[in-house]
Amino acid sequence: MDNKELYRLALEALKYSYSPYSRFPVGAALLTKKGNVYTGVNIENASYGLTICAERVAIFKAVSQGERSFEKIVVVGKDGNGIPPCGACRQVMIEFSPEIEVVLYDSKKDEFIVYKAHEILPISFRLEVNDEQQ
Ligand code: THU
Repeated sequence: MDNKELYRLALEALKYSYSPYSRFPVGAALLTKKGNVYTGVNIENASYGLTICAERVAIFKAVSQGERSFEKIVVVGKDGNGIPPCGACRQVMIEFSPEIEVVLYDSKKDEFIVYKAHEILPISFRLEVNDEQQ
């Protein structure tokens, strides 16, 4: 699936964002190595700290469906521009797929800028996971 199509799905997901406190809707669309797409939106709470970002919703949906290998993720705000993932989301991406591509649309240039997760979170914290733990 190309970046444009994944971007369209992330934009479409935006309508389900629950962000009454920040009024900053975010949508994400995650493409797995198996070729499936999981979308996510930010979900806020009156207890602000319980908010979860769109990227983590998409990733946790995928993991809970048995998928752990990811190709790329598009993250978008309501103006259509890419949203650089927060540090927590970068850490979660790296747990499963350090090579995942983070695809951000730049409307001024009308192009997608692509970063690998490990490039935008270098020297990240990781523990070895053995077969039993997996
Ligand atoms: N947000 C995301 O969904 N993803 C990010 O990478 C950055 C921030 C959300 C969290 C909160 O609901 C709103 O954006 C404002 O911070």
